[in-house]
Amino acid sequence: MVYMTFAEEKGKAKKMDSLRRDGLLHAKRIESTPEYMRKLFIMPNSSDRFVEFGEHLLDMIHDFFQDKGGIHSEVSLKELARIFNNIDMPKEPKLIRDVLDEIKNGVIRHSVKVANPYYIGHMTSAIPYFMILLEMIAVSLNQNQVKIESAKASSFVEREFICWMHRLVYHNPSQFYKKNIQNQRIALGNITSDGTIANMTALSLAMAKAFPPDGANFDGVRNEGLHRALEHFGFRQAVVLVSKRGHYSICKAGTLLGIGAKGVVFSPVHPYTNKIDIEKLWQTIEKIKKEDKRLGKPTKFMAVVGVAGTTETGNVDDLGDLAEVAHELGAHYHIDAAWGGGALLMEGGRSLLKGISRGDSVSLDAHKLLYSPNSMGICLFKDMEDSRYLYHTSNYIIRKGSVDQGRFTLEGSRPFACLKPWAALKIIGRQGFELIFDHARELQNTFMDLIQQDPEFELMNQPELFIINYRFVPHELRGELDHLMLEPKQHVEKITMINNLINDLNVELHKKIRERDTSFVSRTRIESTRYAPRKTVVLRAITVNPNTEKRMLAQILEEHRTLGDRIWQNKNLLQKTLHMYKRLMVI
Ligand SMILES: Cc1ncc(COP(=O)(O)O)c(C=O)c1O
Repeated sequence: MVYMTFAEEKGKAKKMDSLRRDGLLHAKRIESTPEYMRKLFIMPNSSDRFVEFGEHLLDMIHDFFQDKGGIHSEVSLKELARIFNNIDMPKEPKLIRDVLDEIKNGVIRHSVKVANPYYIGHMTSAIPYFMILLEMIAVSLNQNQVKIESAKASSFVEREFICWMHRLVYHNPSQFYKKNIQNQRIALGNITSDGTIANMTALSLAMAKAFPPDGANFDGVRNEGLHRALEHFGFRQAVVLVSKRGHYSICKAGTLLGIGAKGVVFSPVHPYTNKIDIEKLWQTIEKIKKEDKRLGKPTKFMAVVGVAGTTETGNVDDLGDLAEVAHELGAHYHIDAAWGGGALLMEGGRSLLKGISRGDSVSLDAHKLLYSPNSMGICLFKDMEDSRYLYHTSNYIIRKGSVDQGRFTLEGSRPFACLKPWAALKIIGRQGFELIFDHARELQNTFMDLIQQDPEFELMNQPELFIINYRFVPHELRGELDHLMLEPKQHVEKITMINNLINDLNVELHKKIRERDTSFVSRTRIESTRYAPRKTVVLRAITVNPNTEKRMLAQILEEHRTLGDRIWQNKNLLQKTLHMYKRLMVI
């Protein structure tokens, strides 16, 4: 038996009052009985009671969205560690309303307002409000997509959705889709929990294809393992090729598949456009082949990965050119379109992602440009028969000859996540998505213009898919740097020195932006700017929130300038670098 109290928040939590018997601070005893436990698993006797909880919950969510406070909440990480420091697992039951109260005060209040229109720093942004309600349906049904016995209609919805995405990417004739939309023998693609698992799926498919059963004494890499596979086929190693802008999930896949992180070879990109440099890629390949000769065994080029929307810069590789490389190497061609895939719904999106239909597999994320909540990935197979490389069965769950989706997925239990993008495509429609992307593009172009027209900011990439890299450069340094860059080879050291100083300044600026907490952009360090190969700190803005307005972008940049100028004027913040810099030149 236990005595519970409401949080001492009488005045504040008005919405909670409907759940309190008297609206006053009081204690409530809950008895931990089998009867009470059973009740938790069935709907309340009256729908009113259920709706009352529901309303309260929705109110809490609504309040979170209305709250005008800072983006990240003022709570420090230390304080959070103090709030959530109970090492004892709860023993006695608590009233739902009390736990909701805790969630409201301890969790919701201190969550990041990623939907705030001034939050333009990450791929996670605003979602349509109806997603919250759709999530409720998915959770209520609690389907398990692994097999038909626990996911009936939802398995068919999943296949329909995958068919739409496959058609969007591969454009096969409608006859093909009519025939295969519900073809249960194979899969046009897999729904995964995120982009990481979608990439992992594609690369494990690539590996299975690279080392298939030979019909004699080798039973395929999935059964025999990589060591035996290399030995059997006479290779010294298996590698995956991707650009230096490739997402680290490709590396994770390398570690899990046994080729190691070092088996993922990152090849240089063109500065500013961030597209893989095909000439340098061939040089990378030649270098590997030279090493092969020296060691007396060839390398298996297992996969070439193209990126359609890189994480840091939003740029798109020349997907057609890369397809040729993959073809010449006899490698699986995977396209990581986790970020950019959704942009196929945008006017002009197809030409931006030209060549995407040449990918043997393509991964996309619904929680990125399909405006769905976190998280859901998709891995599509150009040749649906390829799904057979992933095929597995088990006597107790996904039996041979069954029609279970789980036969092809790396994951086991999966939620009915595709309900959200499936319904969103209906509610928003292709036309609606075009409008949303029109806005995102307008914001992108506005932000670019603002940066380019402003002598204190420098654009650091060529934005394509709503990701803009830029940095703050004080007047005094800008003129100097531009001058030195007229003859970069003669001023290598000075340019590096000024860049380092600007790097420090932008790191500091980013800290100040975080502290101020009225807007948010992210930060990264890339080598592929016009100062290549120098590592350059850039700020990163992503303009996909439909609630962000052009005037807000001007405000954000103005705020950066004020903060940047303040740091620059207070130069001792940058003393170390400045000291080195002064040794080289006089300012
Ligand atoms: C290009 C790219 N690929 C893969 C991923 C991984 O996706 P997720 O975070 O959904 O696992 C991301 C995530 O940002 C990405 O940008």
